[in-house]
Amino acid sequence: MPPAGVTDNPFRIGVAVRGVFFTDRADETARVADTLREGGARLLVVGERRVGKTSVLLRSIERVQRAGGHAFLVDCGTAGSAVEIANRVLSAATGALGRDWAATANDLSRRARGRIQLGTDLSGSPTVSFEPTFAADATAHADALATVLDALDARAKRERRIIGIALDEVQRLTAILGGEAGEWVLRGLLQHHQHLAYVLAGSEPTVLSAMQGHGRAFYQQMSLLAIGPIDPAHFARWIDDRSGRAGVVAPGLGAACLALAGPRTRDVTQLARAAFAAALSAGVTRPPRKKITGPELAAIGFVDLVHEQADPFRALWEGLARTRQQVLRALAVGDTGLTSEAARRMYGLGASGVVTGAIEALRNTRLVVRAADTPAGYAFDNPFFRGWVIENTLPDLGLALPATHLAARSAT
Ligand SMILES: Nc1ncnc2c1ncn2[C@@H]1O[C@H](COP(=O)(O)OP(=O)(O)OP(=O)(O)O)[C@@H](O)[C@H]1O
Ligand SMILES: [Mg+2]
Repeated sequence: MPPAGVTDNPFRIGVAVRGVFFTDRADETARVADTLREGGARLLVVGERRVGKTSVLLRSIERVQRAGGHAFLVDCGTAGSAVEIANRVLSAATGALGRDWAATANDLSRRARGRIQLGTDLSGSPTVSFEPTFAADATAHADALATVLDALDARAKRERRIIGIALDEVQRLTAILGGEAGEWVLRGLLQHHQHLAYVLAGSEPTVLSAMQGHGRAFYQQMSLLAIGPIDPAHFARWIDDRSGRAGVVAPGLGAACLALAGPRTRDVTQLARAAFAAALSAGVTRPPRKKITGPELAAIGFVDLVHEQADPFRALWEGLARTRQQVLRALAVGDTGLTSEAARRMYGLGASGVVTGAIEALRNTRLVVRAADTPAGYAFDNPFFRGWVIENTLPDLGLALPATHLAARSAT
């Protein structure tokens, strides 16, 4: 039980956030919601991992539903086949469109030549899915998805309304459908539906943006919405405000969380959550109220998160080739370019070709991302892994820095 006057942790992670746990994104939400209501509209939503894409999609869907419209989200991320995705569309549609969708299932069943099974779930709601035997027939997979989407479009047309479908982690779907060739298959699946609106979203900005490249399947087929970091000043204020209302007043907490864990939305929220939890155990909220500043609290939360994830971080580190480890050490210190003479001496980095190869490999495995404002031009993708590397691997080089050490930022 938290002390009196203190509510539950006001920061949530690990799920797409809603309600009071959600902030900002008014423009993005309006754009996605508008798209979901416009028949034949196609929007591609791209953004880095953990930036808050799915939360924007769900918020937009909520908005459409509140206004009496019809929209739902299908997560393609963990699907293994197009039939699985077809089934996900079926169950999301059943949930969002209500019981009368089951009637459409009969029509669907006819289209799918009887290979549909109808049932009820534990709560008595109708369920519709493709027969398991469908999975044995690889060529029928894309057909299954086409059948479902065609049926939805036909229904929307009949009822003179628009159904909005958000396909999240769509890069998984194109991969299932056959990579670059799969993009054409997907385009073929979607393009005739004038009563459906599609928002495609995914976490590989480069892969997704390439889908729109010249000569590629979605060239000039979709509008683009890039989701970037939440405005830092707004985010910092929001963190201070939520934390204060929940009983933890620590001036500068939001700004400190952004500095240590930014810019990805999830990382910042995760740190705010850990800092809030640390405040409770540090007795900040119990009399005699201990005073603590936001930066102090954020530092405690940061170190807690680094320590909590020590096992996976160690395993990750031990699996890396030596040059990659050295590049990561240099990035963790963050005071020089990677190909400078100083970096070569300090971190034993080899010729620039070797370093470039290591960076490429680290980027491909998503450990490292571009960061124009740092001396090296690259930064850790995961700020907590950076903290672990600082704490555990720099002492080998005779460097003792706190886990919360930040790379130098250039003046720009
Ligand atoms: N608008 C927001 N307000 C507050 N917190 C947010 C917001 N958007 C995202 N978050 C935080 O970031 C976390 C990740 O959000 P979300 O799952 O929407 O990101 P994503 O970009 O879809 O991530 P992934 O790349 O893993 O799919 C949420 O669980 C929440 O903690
Ligand atoms: Mg997501």
